[in-house]
Amino acid sequence: MRPLGTAAATSFLATLLLFLHLTASFPSNDMSNLSNCNHNLSCGSLTDITHPFTGAQRPPDCGPQEFQLTCNIVDSVTTFMFKSLPYQVTRVNQTSQTLRLSRLDFYDDLPCTHLSSSTTFDNDIFSLGSNNKNLTLFYGCKNLGGFVEEKFKFSCPVPGDLEEGFFKVGDPSGLPSTGWCRTSFQVPFLRSKAHQLEAEGSSLLGEVLREGFDVRYSDPYSADCQTCSKHSGTQCGFDAKPICICNDLLCPVPGPGVSLASGAVLVIFVGCWITVVKQVKKRKSALVQSQGLPVVTPTSTNFFRATPSLANLKSDLDKGSTYLGVRVFSYNELEEATNCFDSSKELGDGGFGTVYYG
Ligand SMILES: *[C@@H]1O[C@H](CO)[C@@H](O)[C@H](O)[C@H]1NC(C)=O
Ligand SMILES: *[C@@H]1O[C@H](CO)[C@@H](O)[C@H](O)[C@H]1NC(C)=O
Ligand SMILES: *[C@@H]1O[C@H](CO)[C@@H](O)[C@H](O)[C@H]1NC(C)=O
Ligand SMILES: *[C@@H]1O[C@H](CO)[C@@H](O)[C@H](O)[C@H]1NC(C)=O
Repeated sequence: MRPLGTAAATSFLATLLLFLHLTASFPSNDMSNLSNCNHNLSCGSLTDITHPFTGAQRPPDCGPQEFQLTCNIVDSVTTFMFKSLPYQVTRVNQTSQTLRLSRLDFYDDLPCTHLSSSTTFDNDIFSLGSNNKNLTLFYGCKNLGGFVEEKFKFSCPVPGDLEEGFFKVGDPSGLPSTGWCRTSFQVPFLRSKAHQLEAEGSSLLGEVLREGFDVRYSDPYSADCQTCSKHSGTQCGFDAKPICICNDLLCPVPGPGVSLASGAVLVIFVGCWITVVKQVKKRKSALVQSQGLPVVTPTSTNFFRATPSLANLKSDLDKGSTYLGVRVFSYNELEEATNCFDSSKELGDGGFGTVYYG
């Protein structure tokens, strides 16, 4: 019987520690400042941008990292990084869930850049809208001669020189892929500009690139955010996972992990209690045979000395009564119950005292 009781107490403690750890690692304690998630993001021509986007007036904790925007306070340009490429955000439509972006790496009026990477938006969150078309840009080309119409050619400054380039509306099919240009890549542009660009050539290229293209987004956590919004005044936030914010603090809704731990604590407590009750019965029958000496073990006395508030309750508890319909355990019963948790002494009494009581 005794080894079972010790095992129960040990697993109780393990669960208790786990529970306390879960509570302690709950985001509210780590999070410095959850305020301002009720603010909208406004930057230059962009106004009233809200969740899932963050940036400027909306701190990073207000949304998933994927939706982080940056507002340049000098020129009020909103930027967005995706796959290491910087984009300027010129439109956000949260109804149609689209962004209009243009690459920031192109020189002001020239189709030139030092980043020769294609623009791709092809993950679960961001995808290219259907109103775009591809544009293929070629740089560092030699002996283009008559292969390419003059109006599609442009030149870019390189250290101490100019190099020749050209573009093609659509994909590079039908062109020899290597040998005559240093590099090539693709960027989307608005399909509505295709005819004009084909007609006017490279004089319009800078403008078309600056106008940009449309990207569709979907917030993978929007369902969680809708759960938050059921309560008025609640904001959605994000800290490794979606969170709900009430009055600048984490809303007091226990997650499934915590209730699970509480359940385990309860089950183990009940198991431990039953063990103790059995022990009490056994000892009482033993005491009858040994002249009925009072059962007060040194460890249980220490426990009450360490927690004075409980010691004060001793006399009340001795009576063993019912308080507001809840059975109050008699001192002797409680004393035996604390025996079950004896091994807690090795880990320190103080912090756990109130936990036993509650
Ligand atoms: C939280 O941030 C707001 C605005 O940035 C500031 O006014 C407030 O003092 C901050 N609160 C804490 C506790 O840091
Ligand atoms: C934030 O923007 C939404 C629309 O996007 C608007 O309904 C709401 O009133 C704005 N909130 C504030 C505080 O400006
Ligand atoms: C945003 O998209 C919706 C739906 O496509 C459209 O009705 C609305 O006019 C757009 N808003 C702006 C400001 O373009
Ligand atoms: C446009 O180019 C990108 C990058 O090479 C490619 O992934 C995408 O499939 C192209 N889109 C179309 C419509 O051809």
